[in-house]
Amino acid sequence: MAGFEKISIKDLTKSFSDTNGKRNLIFEKVSFELHSGAVLRLSGASGSGKTTFMNVMSGLIKPDSGSVLFGNIDITNLSEGKKDRFRAENIGYIFQTFNLLSPFSVIENVYAPLAFAGRLPQNYKDKALESLDKVGMKEFAAKKPYHLSVGQKQRVAVARVLFADPPLVFADEPTASLDRSSSELVKNTLLELNKKGTTLVLTSHDSIFDDVKPDIDFNLETGVLS
Ligand SMILES: Nc1ncnc2c1ncn2[C@@H]1O[C@H](COP(=O)(O)OP(=O)(O)OP(=O)(O)O)[C@@H](O)[C@H]1O
Ligand SMILES: [Mg+2]
Repeated sequence: MAGFEKISIKDLTKSFSDTNGKRNLIFEKVSFELHSGAVLRLSGASGSGKTTFMNVMSGLIKPDSGSVLFGNIDITNLSEGKKDRFRAENIGYIFQTFNLLSPFSVIENVYAPLAFAGRLPQNYKDKALESLDKVGMKEFAAKKPYHLSVGQKQRVAVARVLFADPPLVFADEPTASLDRSSSELVKNTLLELNKKGTTLVLTSHDSIFDDVKPDIDFNLETGVLS
């Protein structure tokens, strides 16, 4: 698996234009370094830009200017093909909206990203079941996403990341739809990954994460890095 020692964010700026063509600045000239294995927490009120920052940092959308370097690879400059490959090898993403593929079953959703990347391991079905088991979703393996509650979908999204086991995980409000015990489960799962070296980028309004001390906190509302 590809690896990198640090992620360097340099002068990153992102704005959106509204329907009247007015520029809405989300963040401007943000620079910091995140070492491999660290925790970055994105904080700030709803609408302040946490998801947008994750999307830019993970290469899903382009910044207006600036760079995101994984080691010496600038994800903002990669061709679409190279970027897809880089993302498949390095990045797991628990989306705020889960992004499950509705025609596929739960277990297929777990292994789909690696299948698309042509990187399915041997015994992938057993491994996918193991990942589902860790989040209490094994018995739902054959179901379709539309058979699931919101909290169950969220746990499948977590299982998908566990299965791919990438060096960098983005978790956007990963416990937003979960009850206390499932939230604990997801939190502990993410912390376990981090403990064995996975770099974690997290947004959460959930007080359950209050005791997780991030290496860097970036408040999108105030622009303050601490
Ligand atoms: N594709 C887009 N086009 C235009 N504006 C956008 C787009 N995506 C997001 N925005 C705007 O950018 C701002 C930041 O949105 P973002 O989703 O990043 O916030 P957030 O901090 O993740 O909020 P929440 O806590 O509710 O998830 C919002 O004002 C939003 O309306
Ligand atoms: Mg968001």
